[in-house]
Amino acid sequence: MRKQFQLIALLAILSLSYCLYSKDSDIPSLKKRLHFDEKGEFKIIQFTDLHFGETDLKDLLSVSLMNYLIQMYHPNFATLTGDMVSGYAWDNTTTFYQRNWKKYTSPFTLNNLSYSIILGNHDDQANLNRTQIMDLDMTNPFSYSNKSVPGLPEGSNYYLTIYENATSNVPKAMLWFLDSHDHECEDDTDSWGCISRIQVEWFENEISKMNKQYDNLLHIAFYHIPLPEYVILYNNYKVYGTKGESVGCPSINTGFFQTMKDNNVRAGFCGHDHINDYGGFMEGVELVYGRKTGFGCYGPQQDVMRGARLLHLNLQGNLTPTLYHEVLQADGTNKQNGEATYRQDKDEGCINTLNIQYPDTQPKFKRRAEL
Ligand SMILES: *[C@@H]1O[C@H](CO)[C@@H](O)[C@H](O)[C@H]1NC(C)=O
Ligand SMILES: *[C@@H]1O[C@H](CO)[C@@H](O)[C@H](O)[C@H]1NC(C)=O
Ligand SMILES: *[C@@H]1O[C@H](CO)[C@@H](O)[C@H](O)[C@H]1NC(C)=O
Ligand SMILES: *[C@@H]1O[C@H](CO)[C@@H](O)[C@H](O)[C@H]1NC(C)=O
Ligand SMILES: *[C@@H]1O[C@H](CO)[C@@H](O)[C@H](O)[C@H]1NC(C)=O
Repeated sequence: MRKQFQLIALLAILSLSYCLYSKDSDIPSLKKRLHFDEKGEFKIIQFTDLHFGETDLKDLLSVSLMNYLIQMYHPNFATLTGDMVSGYAWDNTTTFYQRNWKKYTSPFTLNNLSYSIILGNHDDQANLNRTQIMDLDMTNPFSYSNKSVPGLPEGSNYYLTIYENATSNVPKAMLWFLDSHDHECEDDTDSWGCISRIQVEWFENEISKMNKQYDNLLHIAFYHIPLPEYVILYNNYKVYGTKGESVGCPSINTGFFQTMKDNNVRAGFCGHDHINDYGGFMEGVELVYGRKTGFGCYGPQQDVMRGARLLHLNLQGNLTPTLYHEVLQADGTNKQNGEATYRQDKDEGCINTLNIQYPDTQPKFKRRAEL
């Protein structure tokens, strides 16, 4: 019944979305400061693991789902936490990424929605490298993406400031975007990618500057690959949500979690593991998975709908803005995270035991994290 409703809802907007795929943006840059709205709210929709580029039908369904949730929930901002494109499905053309980028950004162009991206491990496996993808995305007038500062690894490392209101110069929230790369962490080539130590240093530098200058900032971090602490969280703390696969984290702990904790980051959001959408608090920091959005690749779990996560940021006078979040599902319903509980099963600790058969690559990494 639910499945039927979901399909009808998607089909209802197919035709509209499809013809807007190729709409060229001749709109001048619309970039202005991000700020809390008149109600003191700022809502961010997190789409993750879209995996465009496998089949036209899957892409069409993914675009439709994005449009549906955007039009239903009216977020102020959207963020894509990696693997927007299945680079392993590359058809060897020199326009593969560009064509798929047009598709996955069409919901933002269509709905006048500001957005930003970070890269996953599959995005740069086709015809564009990390810098080229970021350069491409920054041409969209609705994009707030930015490239790494010189000296950092190439890719998507940047932050965005959300101001108190349309005219105030007081920052109230900071969104931190960190690139967790592909398959390599520091000098370990046999690991999932990570936020490297040099990025952690940059982050620590920038965030401590902001904290010295401003009181009561709400900090939120986004990255594609989960931190090793997602394992510790699951094994030792109360969590909500679903865990359907082992955590695909890097073999080395580069200290990003510790730095988040030391600098009052409220929460971190990742993607990468399509059938995990759990989250919970560890030492005051909430670590969260997004909900798998795209129709490409595997997941989510059979009894779980595709969707997105909606983050509600709310101003609290002169206090730190609050954050709560929920899952938006493909049938249009929103699902609260529910009560967090201790789980019986344990994750083995940054061992990728996935048996995903990618068309061209079969990454199999089996390394124990140095937790
Ligand atoms: C792309 O090129 C490689 C190397 O020539 C080839 O092995 C592969 O089959 C090609 N892929 C497609 C989809 O044509
Ligand atoms: C987007 O903005 C344009 C230009 O301001 C406007 O004409 C259009 O109606 C807007 N579309 C939506 C869905 O808000
Ligand atoms: C990415 O491509 C650009 C343009 O071809 C090149 O200048 C840059 O060095 C490339 N980056 C990497 C990491 O290969
Ligand atoms: C992009 O990042 C650079 C620092 O690398 C910064 O100077 C610039 O203002 C940022 N651009 C935007 C649009 O945020
Ligand atoms: C924005 O915030 C400033 C500082 O709190 C306040 O003086 C101003 O009235 C606010 N403007 C609006 C449009 O709410």
